[in-house]
Amino acid sequence: MPQINENFLKLEKNYLFINIAKKVNAYKAAHPEADIIRMGIGDVTLPIAKCVVEAMKKGADEMGVKETFKGYEDSGAGYYFLREAVSGYYKSFGVDVPAGDIRINDGAKADCGNIVDIFGNDNTVLITDPAYPVYVDTNRMCGRNVIFADSNEKNGFAAMPDDSVNCDLIYLCSPNNPTGSAYTYDQLKEWIAYAKKNNAVIIYDSAYEAFITDENVPRSIYAVEGAKEVAIEMCSLSKTAGFTGMRCGYTVVPSELVVKASDGSEVKLADLWGRRQGSKFNGVSYPVQCAAAAVFTEEGLKQTRENIEYYKNNAKIIGETLDELGIKYTGGKNSPYIWLKCPGNMGSWEFFDLLLEKINVVGTPGAGFGKNGEGWFRLTAFGDKDRTIEAMQRLKTLKF
Ligand code: MLT
Repeated sequence: MPQINENFLKLEKNYLFINIAKKVNAYKAAHPEADIIRMGIGDVTLPIAKCVVEAMKKGADEMGVKETFKGYEDSGAGYYFLREAVSGYYKSFGVDVPAGDIRINDGAKADCGNIVDIFGNDNTVLITDPAYPVYVDTNRMCGRNVIFADSNEKNGFAAMPDDSVNCDLIYLCSPNNPTGSAYTYDQLKEWIAYAKKNNAVIIYDSAYEAFITDENVPRSIYAVEGAKEVAIEMCSLSKTAGFTGMRCGYTVVPSELVVKASDGSEVKLADLWGRRQGSKFNGVSYPVQCAAAAVFTEEGLKQTRENIEYYKNNAKIIGETLDELGIKYTGGKNSPYIWLKCPGNMGSWEFFDLLLEKINVVGTPGAGFGKNGEGWFRLTAFGDKDRTIEAMQRLKTLKF
C-alpha cells in the first residue's frame, strides 16, 4: 500500500476560490433569479488584444504546415524569440535581465509552486500574511516550517523584515495579492539586505507589475541593486495581457544567484531550476508563445495597456465609492485589488455572506488569505465597468 503525503491532510480542505465558488453556486441554486456580480476571484474579463490573437492564429497555422510545424522546443526554456521579447520588456522599464536567465512557464501560479522542488524541506519559509494561498499551501505540502511576517493596518499591509527572525526562503508579492499594497524601492532594499544577512533567497511574485502607477514602486525586484544575488522573480501574462485562459508567464533565476550545498560547494540555482524543468515540464504550446511574444511588441503593449487602464478605472470607481461610504481600504492604485476593512467590525466571512445575500455581490473574504486578513475583504477591478458601477450602487444601499 502506498504511503500518502500526509502533509496534504493538514491543509485547508479546499483551495480558497473553490470554497467561494461552492458557496456562490449553492446560493445561486437556491435563488436562481439572483443577478450575481462577481468581484471575487482575480480573473480578467476583457478579450485578448487583437494583434495577440492574430499572432496566436499565425502560430496555429504554422503547426499545420510541414515546413513550419513544431514539436518539442529543444532548450526546454521556451522559444528564444519570446525570452528575448521578455528581456526587451524588462529593458523598457530600465531593468537588465538577459534572455538566458528567463524561462517561459504556464503562469506564475505553477512556478510559485514548482520552485519548492529545488529547495530542501528543512528550510524555514517566511511568508507575508495575508498572502496568495499558493505560497503557504505548496510549502506545507512538503512539510516545511512556515513562519509569517505580519502585514496589517499598522504597517500599511507592507510587512517589513524583522532582524530577530531567521529564515531561508522569503515570499514577497508586489503589488500584493490580496492587499493591493506595493513595496517601494527603499522597502525592497531592506528586504534584499535582510536576505543577504540571512543567506536567504527571495521568491518574488510580480504578477501585478503592469498595474504600477507610482514612480517609487519598482516593476521588478531587479530594479533594486543587489537583487540578482538573492532573488528569483516570477511573472505572468495573466493580468498583464489577459492570459488567464491561455497560460503563459516567465520565471527569472539570475546566473548571479549562487547558494552553498551542504558540502560547501557553490551551486547556481538556475542550474537546479533548469534540471527540474527538464525533468518535469515540456513547455508552453507554440501558438501561445507566439501570442505572448506579440504582447511585447509596440502594438501589443499599446493594446494591452488599454485593458489595464479599463481595469484601473474600475478600481477608481470602487475606491471613490468606499471613500464616499467612509470605508477604509488599501490598493486600487498600483493594483487591480481593493482591500477594504469590513464595516461595523464584521468578520470577513460575515461580510461575504452579507454582500452575497443582501446585494448579490461576491468578493473574497480576507481571512482566506491568512490571519491578518480577518476583518478585511478583497474586491477585484477585473469586471465589466457597468457591472462594477452597479455593484457599487448596491453597496451604497446597505446600512452598516
Ligand atoms: C486570485 O484571485 O487571487 C487569483 O485567482 C490569483 C491567480 O491568478 O491565481
